[in-house]
Amino acid sequence: MRKEILNLLKTAGDTYISGEEIAERLGVSRTAVWKHIKELRRAGYDIVSQSRSGYALRGTPDVLTPAELVPLLKDSLFGTNILYHEETRSTNEDAKVAANDGAPDGTLVVTEFQGTGHGRLARGWFCPKGEGVLFSVILRPTSFLPQEAPKCTLLAAVAVARAIRSLGLDVGIKWPNDILADGRKLVGILTEMSAEMERIHYIVIGIGINVNITADEFTPDIQDTATSLAILAGHAVDRRQLLAAILREMETLYRAVQNEGFAPVFDAWRALSVTLGQDVRVLGVGETFEGRAADIDETGALLVDTSEGRRRVLAGDVSIRPKGWTGTR
Ligand code: BTN
Repeated sequence: MRKEILNLLKTAGDTYISGEEIAERLGVSRTAVWKHIKELRRAGYDIVSQSRSGYALRGTPDVLTPAELVPLLKDSLFGTNILYHEETRSTNEDAKVAANDGAPDGTLVVTEFQGTGHGRLARGWFCPKGEGVLFSVILRPTSFLPQEAPKCTLLAAVAVARAIRSLGLDVGIKWPNDILADGRKLVGILTEMSAEMERIHYIVIGIGINVNITADEFTPDIQDTATSLAILAGHAVDRRQLLAAILREMETLYRAVQNEGFAPVFDAWRALSVTLGQDVRVLGVGETFEGRAADIDETGALLVDTSEGRRRVLAGDVSIRPKGWTGTR
């Protein structure tokens, strides 16, 4: 009922809508309407009232609730099943539980705060409450094999980079899945999968974006290497619109992949890459080497030209060597 009242207020825009009209349209009493309005106000909605005209919505809280997201994700795959937690441990963990319980393709898990958010290589992912966009999506693709699942990370990186670039901010993708601006990390992506040899049960793509974090809020270990959209833009960024834009981009790419394979994702990834053409240092499993990042191959692996020939990098950390780097650091 709360959601329906909110929708009526949103549709009315600036104009007042009477308690009587709301009650009639939703088939409830005026007292019930008044109670729900009180609840909405408590949840942060700025609803003004005038004795003769009724109610009008003047402001919405900065939250990623289904009530706020569903209207932005009409007819979208990722708007059909939204699991919202004001606080949770990790949206990837929630998504895996939901997927094991049968949650459908396109399920979105979203939160304002994670207690134990995690990233690649067992690293943590921390973001102050309400200042990031932290979410995971469940995919159940039928058109490709488990071996191809890592390419979904590239798909996600392209979607996020495109959505951020549409805000007028200059960001690029560092192989395989970090989004950087001014050489600093803005976004992390963690893809996990459950599969048999020839069949994907589900893929979970978890994405964390530093949106409205101020420089002093980053933990000391990442103060020099992280940034946020607000820092780059010089003003707060609307998290709802950003998330909706990312999910629209993801859906377009996901549908393209299901129909044509990953070629369009690869082309887009190459165009957005800040790694290709750069001198890099690769921290692989049990070894470190340097070379020039030449391309990605058809599996999404990074191809690095070294003095001893071309190397294929499937996993690990790649740092881009700044110009003038001598190799002594
Ligand atoms: C990385 O850069 O290593 C990946 C970080 C991924 C963080 C996101 S936040 C939402 C989702 N839930 C998690 O626990 N991790 C991912």
